[in-house]
Amino acid sequence: MANVTVIGAQWGDEGKGKIVDWLAERVDAVVRFQGGHNAGHTLVVGENVYKLSLLPSGIVTGTLSIIGNGVVLDPWALRDEMAKLRGQGVSITTENFALADNCALILPIHRDLDGLREAAAGSGKIGTTGRGIGPAYEDKVGRRAIRVCDLAHLDALDSQLDRLCAHHDALRAGFGEPPVDRVRLIADLKEIAPFVLEYAQPVWKRLNKVRKAGARILFEGAQGVLLDVDHGTYPFVTSSNTVSGTAAAGSGLGPSAAGFVLGIVKAYTTRVGSGPFPTELEDETGQRLGERGHEFGTVTGRKRRCGWFDAVIVRQSCAVSGVTGIALTKLDVLDGFETIKICTGYRLNGKVYDYLPAHAADQASVEPIYEEMPGWQETTAGARSWADLPAQAIKYISRVQELIETPVALVSTSPEREDTILVRDPFAD
Ligand code: GDP
Ligand code: IMO
Ligand code: MG
Repeated sequence: MANVTVIGAQWGDEGKGKIVDWLAERVDAVVRFQGGHNAGHTLVVGENVYKLSLLPSGIVTGTLSIIGNGVVLDPWALRDEMAKLRGQGVSITTENFALADNCALILPIHRDLDGLREAAAGSGKIGTTGRGIGPAYEDKVGRRAIRVCDLAHLDALDSQLDRLCAHHDALRAGFGEPPVDRVRLIADLKEIAPFVLEYAQPVWKRLNKVRKAGARILFEGAQGVLLDVDHGTYPFVTSSNTVSGTAAAGSGLGPSAAGFVLGIVKAYTTRVGSGPFPTELEDETGQRLGERGHEFGTVTGRKRRCGWFDAVIVRQSCAVSGVTGIALTKLDVLDGFETIKICTGYRLNGKVYDYLPAHAADQASVEPIYEEMPGWQETTAGARSWADLPAQAIKYISRVQELIETPVALVSTSPEREDTILVRDPFAD
């Protein structure tokens, strides 16, 4: 039975949430496998708009939704998000929601450190979401994290807290901050523990059972490949691996479970936060893309930087993530442009590149090589079949898939769940 792994193929905000929600009706479980509440996904279903950060997007359809071990979990953020969604009528119970008991926690001290570092970095800042993601992953790989399962053993936490606090106190002192308030931290953990433990379980076990029963699993990635800590625009990246390969390690299933890798690709390019962005347009055209695409961050409300479609980075993302097919989203945002540009390569020091070089200075210096295509004046907004698309829009899609060397499986033409064109079914074996 085919599973699907959804990942972002640019710098995030490609429309993963919309596509996961659309696919979720056809799967038995949706699993988040990396990232945390730095993610922000907007789902539009009729009159209802749902904004999710930590909960898998499958929760809105009532599909079994699981937070895997690869996620860093802020339990207070989770509680707030669950309350908000329940207020919108979404049912979240121990039947349809579980989280991994071996998830590392994001604590208030992680958020502190994220903020202190960003403030001190001045113009060199990463532009993080300020959610404590980086510091929490650091503590995880540094083997000093507090994990979900520790919440059931709070009385035996002393030596772990010694290690954690020794590390954080030294860093905090460097910023002129007082040491960690241990008493408060333990009190906070005691208060939140019963809520978290209600949903905690060895999800690897549950997922393996689901898989053996022949059920379909959808792995939901957050962020995008260009924000991957290895493959992205380092150091302007997030602190997890966002590539499809992480689905296995971050959920407790082997790599053969990944199935069809669906790369979500915006029909143009956006980025939030600092870092290189070769096709960025700081002119009227960029402004127009941002306005038409409502490009403001779901999490921080920041304006997203906008630019033309960059086939070089998407081809690279598809390669390093083994993308089987893409979902091309926000095609409607390009409606009405007289001409549309696509970046097909870069020029750097007189040399032509068909990939994004690894060094930050080179990434910041590459000059995009564009080809230009006529746009279309008809509307694609709300199109639900290939036949509804103008000929020139079809030519654009064809050129995109040719340049990225990966076929188009879905096309999205509005924020609304059903405004989606199925070209090739990702679940087909
Ligand atoms: P994610 O982080 O990848 O889930 O994406 P976000 O939800 O942060 O950003 C995508 C935004 O575009 C959301 O506001 C969606 O409602 C919206 N969106 C998704 N697909 C389409 C589309 O095909 N057309 C338009 N106009 N908006 C879309
Ligand atoms: P979704 O899932 C877009 C960016 C931040 C910053 C960098 C590091 O909605 O696509 P972090 O807080 O992770 O340490 O910030 O990564 N970033 C995102 N950009 N969409 C996201 O998630 C992002 N999550 C993190 O803006 O540049
Ligand atoms: Mg987003």
